[in-house]
This record gives sequence, C-alpha cells and structure tokens, in this order.
Amino acid sequence: MPDHSNTVALVTGAGHGIGRAIAMRLAQEGATVCVLDINGEQAEDTARLLREAGHKAACKTADITDFGAVERAVAETEAELGPIGLLVNNAGFTDAGDLDGIALTDWHREVDVNLNGPYHCLRAILPGMKARGGGVVVNISSVNGVRFFGNPAYSAAKAGVINLTQSVASEYGKHGIRCNAVLPGSVRTENASWEIRIKKDPDVFNKLARWYPMGRVAEPEDVAKAVSFLASDDAKYITGAALPVDGGLLAGMNVMIEEFILESQ
Ligand SMILES: NC(=O)c1ccc[n+]([C@@H]2O[C@H](COP(=O)([O-])OP(=O)(O)OC[C@H]3O[C@@H](n4cnc5c(N)ncnc54)[C@H](O)[C@@H]3O)[C@@H](O)[C@H]2O)c1
Repeated sequence: MPDHSNTVALVTGAGHGIGRAIAMRLAQEGATVCVLDINGEQAEDTARLLREAGHKAACKTADITDFGAVERAVAETEAELGPIGLLVNNAGFTDAGDLDGIALTDWHREVDVNLNGPYHCLRAILPGMKARGGGVVVNISSVNGVRFFGNPAYSAAKAGVINLTQSVASEYGKHGIRCNAVLPGSVRTENASWEIRIKKDPDVFNKLARWYPMGRVAEPEDVAKAVSFLASDDAKYITGAALPVDGGLLAGMNVMIEEFILESQ
C-alpha cells in the first residue's frame, strides 16, 4: 500500500464524487488532507467523514476560478496543517452540449473551471514546493482531453490540462517536483451531467459498459487508486504522464470491432 504519511494533500473538488474518494484514500494511506470545494456544505461533509474515520483534516470553501480565494485557502491550509506536498487538481464540471449551440458564457465558465482553476492552484502552490525542493501534483483530466466524446469546451480545457501537466513536469523537474495527469473514462458519480443522463435513462451506466473492454464504467475508487500511486514514491521516476483510467476505452473501438468486424468473420 502506498504510504502518504507526513504528506499534506490539498484535494480540490473533494466535497463530492471522485474528489471525496481521493481524499478518503489518501487519508487512509497516511496523508493529512485539506478538502477544498466551492460547495462549503459538501466540503464540510467530506471533512467530517475524514475526522470520523480518525484522520486530521482541514476544509476550505473556495471557487478555483478566483485566484485570490485560492491563494487565501492555500495560505490558511499551510498555517493549519503545514506545507502542502501534494496537490490534486480534481475540481471540474461540464454541462454544455454541442459546439453549434453552446452559449459564450458556458464556454468561458467551462474553460475557467476546468483549465484556469487548476492553473490557479498550481500558481498558488508551486512556489512553496519549489522553495522546499519537492512536491507532487496530480491533475484530473479526462479521456475527453485526447478524443472527442462530446462537451467541446470541457474537452478543450481537459486537453489543456494534459499540456499544462507537461509544462509543469518539464519546468519543475529540476526542483524535485513531479506532475502527472489521470484520464478517467466514465465514472459512476452523481455529478450534474450524469444526474441529467440518469434522469433520462436510469440504466445509463449499464448501457455504457459495452463500450468499455473491461465491461464496466469506473468507480471513483478506481481513480483514487491511480492518484494514490502517482502521488507515491513508487512513481518517483514518473512525471509528465497522462494515464488513462478508462477500462480500455481509448485502446480501441470496442463496439465497432464487436459489431462490424467480428460479426463479419
Ligand atoms: N464522473 C466522470 O465520469 C468523470 C470522467 C472523467 C473525468 N472526470 C473529472 O473528475 C473530476 C471530478 O468529477 P466528479 O464526477 O467527481 O464531479 P462531482 O460534480 O461529483 O464533484 C466535483 C466537485 O468539484 C466541485 N467544484 C466544481 N466547480 C468548482 C470550483 N469552481 N471550485 C471549487 N470546487 C468546484 C463541486 O462542488 C464538486 O464537489 C472532474 O475534474 C471531472 O471533470 C469525471
């Protein structure tokens, strides 16, 4: 099991879904976690779960698109828990449809939260890591960052996150800082975009499963385990990587192969 003891981790968007699973896992493996979320009640819920499980935790309410708010949250976290050694840029969302119909405000908000937000957190935390001579960053991108599966603004921003990951890895490697990205496929969370799809079709995750060579969509813990590995010393020579956690979705056109190629043989 990875050992994150003596690490202070700040996990954005940890009030819900994948971020909460990441916070819980890192804490189980020894990290002291700061839960940062725009939704203060959800953030407090995760912090309470962490404390009930016997872990020390801090909790900050901040919108990652607001650099001043991020700077304040980082300063308060470090005063409370000590220097942040691990940043998990997890907060993100999408709810906008196609390129033709997207409102300009929706485009701007999706790029702001999904790309500028992670940059704000890096900007607030990297100088401290650099001064201390080390640190780890894990950015949650998406399979949408390397192929188009809908949600154009989100996809463009998530592609940006992969490139940003490479910038940090290249520029800060000499300071002992590693930075990697995780690219989940569909993950069973109750985020806003899945909620809409689940309302339309409660069986959506089972229907999606056939697109995945592993025969299922991911659970939040599948992503949390990958984050924990990349954050750990077991990954100490891995930086600048974009790791799909997608049950094989990006490996090939599974449904096309089954329906059009194998059937014709
Ligand atoms: N669920 C999936 O299928 C899936 C697939 C690929 C990638 N991802 C990515 O994983 C991450 C987590 O997704 P999830 O499904 O757990 O979502 P979620 O909606 O369940 O949780 C996201 C959390 O981020 C917080 N948040 C949103 N905007 C914020 C902001 N501006 N500032 C601070 N906090 C903010 C929300 O309040 C929420 O608690 C996102 O980056 C998402 O793009 C999710």
